[in-house]
Order: sequence, then structure tokens, then C-alpha cells
Amino acid sequence: MTDLFSPLKLGAIEISNRVLMAPLTRCRADEHHVPTDLMAEHYGQRASGGLLIAEATMAMEGNSAFWREPGIYSDAQVDSWKKVTDAVHANGGKIVLQIWHGGRACHPALNDGKQPVAPSAIAITNVDVHTPEGKQNYTVPRALDDAEIPAIIDGFVRAAENAKRAGFDGVEVHGANGYLLDQFLRDGANHREGPYGGSLENRARLLLEVIEAVSQVWGADRVGVRLSPLNSFNSMKDSDPIGLMTWLSQKLSDYGLAYLHLMRADFLGEQQMDVVTPTREHYKGHLIVNMGYSGQEAQQVIETGLADAVAFGVPFIANPDLPHRLKIGAELNQADPATFYSQGREGYNDYPTLEALK
Ligand SMILES: Cc1cc2nc3c(=O)[nH]c(=O)nc-3n(C[C@H](O)[C@H](O)[C@H](O)COP(=O)(O)O)c2cc1C
Repeated sequence: MTDLFSPLKLGAIEISNRVLMAPLTRCRADEHHVPTDLMAEHYGQRASGGLLIAEATMAMEGNSAFWREPGIYSDAQVDSWKKVTDAVHANGGKIVLQIWHGGRACHPALNDGKQPVAPSAIAITNVDVHTPEGKQNYTVPRALDDAEIPAIIDGFVRAAENAKRAGFDGVEVHGANGYLLDQFLRDGANHREGPYGGSLENRARLLLEVIEAVSQVWGADRVGVRLSPLNSFNSMKDSDPIGLMTWLSQKLSDYGLAYLHLMRADFLGEQQMDVVTPTREHYKGHLIVNMGYSGQEAQQVIETGLADAVAFGVPFIANPDLPHRLKIGAELNQADPATFYSQGREGYNDYPTLEALK
């Protein structure tokens, strides 16, 4: 019987089990967005996950949306990511990198005063941004000119090339959580006219162009994409999330991707509907689901075929040996939100394995 602990081939990426680590921004890079040794230790500790999806990583310089998140545009960053991928591979794991542009979530206070860009000049109003000077409101972004879009796609291509040099097993295009590609996708944030606004086909154009371009670098079977059609975090909303997922699932079925990674819910709990069933129905490739899964529910979705793998976020923060714990039904360590975005080892690399607790 296929279960949570059965191996799987996600495109060209062979994984040993279906307990995946969701991408988790933890702000442990240095002030130049260069990954640190702490990060190599962190991902190395979690290598028993079938696939680790490394945190949102700036594809292009000057688009910081957090404090000390990593980038993949400089040689120093590539060299340091190599330590991360080496640590994971040395422990028998697989790791892909989530490549990202924050769009309107990039704050001037984090980018030398530079105004952020977005599909339309509409600010985020329902959450604050963390800056070195404390929490601040988001600012109104500048609407990108169509002529600027090729440079954005090019930035993703450079990031994909650099991820390859850094020894990753593939890349995940970040199309979720209200960042640039998602801002284009969902009609609450995209009020454009022209080739990148209006119809669903136009709103999806940038995401699909990025996926196509990145697939030229890696082969589509080492490229995944993450979507969050219901997440209202970062002031996001779509007028028809099911229609969006149905259309995109059909479209992406032709791409031969490693996987489609679907977040089923809303960080803020405002939008609730079943997006997993229509996605499974219309998407022909491998489907990863995420958000709020227990080990038991994850096992059920694999057994019933509703999804092929399940990504765990917060449970993986606190349990470096999560697959083992889920397999034997052991109690889980609880994560401490106070250290999610703090500095240093505490709340990052000091969560014990079951073995260490003996
Ligand atoms: C501290 C933290 C950082 C996160 N960073 C990212 C990120 O970099 N990229 C992303 O797509 N999602 C990010 N997420 C969302 C998680 O990947 C995941 O979707 C969320 O935690 C829900 O899954 P869970 O219920 O298994 O925790 C983050 C969530 C948390 C709590």
C-alpha cells in the first residue's frame, strides 16, 4: 500500500518518503543575504524529510521583504548555499530552493529607500512589515511597466542558474502568499490592462513565463510551483479561487513539472473553500498539499490519492526528525513563534530529536 513513507519520483527528483519540509523563512542569513553555517546545520538536521523546500530566497538584488532573508544572486551566496546542499546530501536528503520576488511586500526601509514594484499601485494594508527599526506599514508600490517584465523573468533565470551551481536538486517557483507572481495572478492585486492584466490567461502570463524560462535551465521535471489561492495574507484576494485553480491546473498539466504545491487554506482564516479536490481533479502531475496537516490526515490523503505528498511547516520547525516521529506516532515538540524570525541558534537548531531526548 502506498503510504506517507513510500518513496516517490517527483519528476526527476527521487524522494525516499512523502513527508516534505515546507519553505520557511527564518531570517538567519547575514546582512548581505548570504546563508550562514547555522542554515547548513538547520537543513542538514532535517535531511530525513523526503524533500526539503528551502525558504523564500531573493532571486534579484534589492528586493528584500524580510530582514536577513537569503538571496541567490551573488557568488558569495552561491558558495554558502553549497554548504547547505552539501549538508543535506551528506545526510541522504534532497533539497530544492524556493526562488522569489517579493513585489509590493518589499519595503523601502529594507532596500535603501527604493519603492517596491507590483502589477498595480495598491499597497498591502492587512499586515505590517518587520524592519530593523521595528514594525512598519507597507508603502504604495509602483506599477511595473510591461517593458520591465523581461528583466524580472531574466532575474528568475539567473537565480535558477545559480541554484544549479549551488548544488540544489531543483527549484520551486514561489507563486504564493501575496508576493510578486501571486500579485499578478489574483485579481484583487492586479488591476492592470494589457498583456499582464484582466483575463485569467493574462494574469497568469508572468507566472507561466517564469516557469517556462526556469524550465529551460533545469528541465521542467526539476521545477515545482507553489500556489495559495485562498491566502488573504498580504491583502490578497481572488474573485474566483476555484476557477483560478481549475484553469491553472489544466494549463500546468502540460508542463511536465516536478510538482504543483498547493496551500489549502488562509493564514488569516478569512477565505475557506475546498481547492484541493478541483486541483486534484484537473492537475495531471504530482500534487503536494500543505497547511494544517497532522500525520494522521497526511496519511489519509496519500492513501486516498487526494495528494502525492504533504509538506509540513511549523511541525518541521520544532521536529528535525519529523518523518520518524510521524511513523512511530511519537509526540511532537511544540514550536515557539517568538524565535521564528529571531537571530541565532535558539529556536532554530536546538529542537531535540527523539534520540537526543533518550
Ligand atoms: C515562520 C514561517 C515562515 C514561512 N516562510 C515561508 C516561505 O519562505 N515561503 C512560503 O512559501 N511559505 C512560507 N511559510 C508558510 C509555510 O510554508 C506553510 O505553508 C505554513 O506554515 C502552513 O503549513 P503548516 O500548517 O504545516 O505549518 C512560512 C510559515 C512560517 C510559520
